[in-house]
Amino acid sequence: MAKAKTSNALPRDLVLRERVGSVAWLTLNRPEARNALSRALVASLRAELAALAAQPGVTTVVLTGAGGKAFCAGADLKERLGMTLDETRAFLHELGALVQAVEDFPAPVVAAIAGAALGGGLELALAADIRLADESASLGLSEVRLGIIPGAGGTQRLSRLCGIAVAKELILTGRRIDAATALRLGLLSRVVPEAELEPAVTEICAELCAGGPLALAQAKHAIDSGFGRPMPEGLAVERRGYEAVLGSADRKEGLRAFAEKRPPRFRGK
Ligand code: COA
Repeated sequence: MAKAKTSNALPRDLVLRERVGSVAWLTLNRPEARNALSRALVASLRAELAALAAQPGVTTVVLTGAGGKAFCAGADLKERLGMTLDETRAFLHELGALVQAVEDFPAPVVAAIAGAALGGGLELALAADIRLADESASLGLSEVRLGIIPGAGGTQRLSRLCGIAVAKELILTGRRIDAATALRLGLLSRVVPEAELEPAVTEICAELCAGGPLALAQAKHAIDSGFGRPMPEGLAVERRGYEAVLGSADRKEGLRAFAEKRPPRFRGK
């Protein structure tokens, strides 16, 4: 996305980072390899996410890819060719941990997808909370066509997100689908024309930033952690999340702001 061009990072950085207010943009930056996940890129992205998680005031993270042709083309298949089995296992572990860090990030994560999101690239996007794409997007878990299976949560997250029938058809065929199909299947929440992805992402980030940071973290956790559990357990997760925000200064600020007919000024406390 164009956003990457304005980053303050060095050209050789594998991940470009930019803060726009409380929104942190992380851009995978190997456009010549369609942002394929090399070991170094996985390590960089993990480090960036860990650093952001420890930073105060980050209310939303945007993940995107440089170059406009791909969000991420999955694992680096050229690097993979030279890996031993143990190295491949270690890579899978690292990639799984990266994807988990996206899912567990204590603020909403938005995947902004232009071009290809394939294999591990789609698995990364599946761990985000919201997926927006432009009309150039092409999505697929094409691993079976390489004689492997999704190895960073794709079989689990796609079936939870879109249902088992859709997940089986997409994973077992390895089919790539366009943005309109992905929208229809619930894999994407919005598709916009090619020039409009960045404004659309900025718009949704502004909506997210209007929420209290503690509330966003707890709401995200309640949905993720409660999903798939029996209803009483899910409701108990929700109640614990509510308890976590009940004594917060942000809750008082929300009530005060409503009474004073002004927007709230949340501090994440
Ligand atoms: N790993 C390593 N290199 C990759 C890559 C990957 N997953 N995907 C693309 N590249 C490289 C290509 O080999 C090519 O390198 P080269 O210039 O040295 O030949 C470069 O990126 C550009 O790729 P190209 O295919 O020419 O670009 P494109 O825009 O026409 O197509 C893709 C982009 C992503 C659709 C296409 O490259 C592709 O299908 N890649 C494989 C995706 C895949 O199967 N991922 C794994 C799923 S399990």
